[in-house]
Amino acid sequence: MNTSSPHLPFGDQRTARWYGKDIISVDQFDRESLTYIFDVAHEMEVMVERIGAFDLLKGKILANLFYEPSTRTSSSFTAAMERLGGSVIPINEVKYSSVSKGESLPDTVRSLECYADVLVLRHPEKGASALAARYTRKPIINAGDGTGEHPTQALLDLFTIIEELGHVDGLTITMIGDLKYGRTVHSLSRLLSLYDVKLNYVAPEVVAMPEDIFTEIDNKGISQAVYSDLDNCLAGTDVLYVTRIQKERFKSLADYEVAKDGYIITPETLADAKENMIIMHPLPRVGEISMEVDDDPRAAYFRQMEYGVYVRMALLAMVLGKA
Ligand code: NCD
Repeated sequence: MNTSSPHLPFGDQRTARWYGKDIISVDQFDRESLTYIFDVAHEMEVMVERIGAFDLLKGKILANLFYEPSTRTSSSFTAAMERLGGSVIPINEVKYSSVSKGESLPDTVRSLECYADVLVLRHPEKGASALAARYTRKPIINAGDGTGEHPTQALLDLFTIIEELGHVDGLTITMIGDLKYGRTVHSLSRLLSLYDVKLNYVAPEVVAMPEDIFTEIDNKGISQAVYSDLDNCLAGTDVLYVTRIQKERFKSLADYEVAKDGYIITPETLADAKENMIIMHPLPRVGEISMEVDDDPRAAYFRQMEYGVYVRMALLAMVLGKA
């Protein structure tokens, strides 16, 4: 294992490419920056294995501002910050903050920047992180804006693929579930279009991949195919990316009834799948993957969460001028 740390100097790098930057959309990344992020994330992984925690961000404060429920994203940002010696102001339940008194998002972030060096924001409205970023001098990291984007999830998804399969070019990635409202697949499909991949989409018509994203990816020359079930595409799949039907985002209950329980991955489903395929899921799952699949070595969704901590450590170090 390479144990040198060429990306982690102990001093602020104010001229570094990501110093002070917001992370709002996967549009911000090219292959060179992805290589850099994953190199740093890998070094974080090595450091955590070697010493658990180190004081790269000692004295730095993160405001974790969540207007929507979260388990993994909020706690992994907390874990990332604390493993780097920093600390966190958690605002997980905005109902206990002044947001419940009617405070606007711009005022809330302008207040938090007085206490924190970096802000992580999850919000139900598309575009909320971009809006917040206009009102604060401190870096804003988008932790999910409604049905819009979830860039840090896409980065950890890609890092998972690289750590598990060793490369991205040449792979076939099949996304299944709620491709309309699921922000993780919006960000991941767009990020994957920087590579030479084939994308398959399996979803009920009412939750198909949005037309604008399909066209954007098509314009990059990426091959995309739409299937109504897994039967015709599972055997050629290298990464099966399963998502939850986003019940809370449906405008029509009838559409939700059509979409729900559409696909359930069981050990039988996987009979024709490649032996070195991986199954991913951003989690939470609500029945799309049966628990019997968890013991299959191809089930990567719990490992995926752990990779997320290293990616978020890398991002925090980068925007705070430490990598
Ligand atoms: C996802 C999210 O919030 O977009 N979860 C996550 O961040 N890991 C997926 C979901 O809610 O279905």
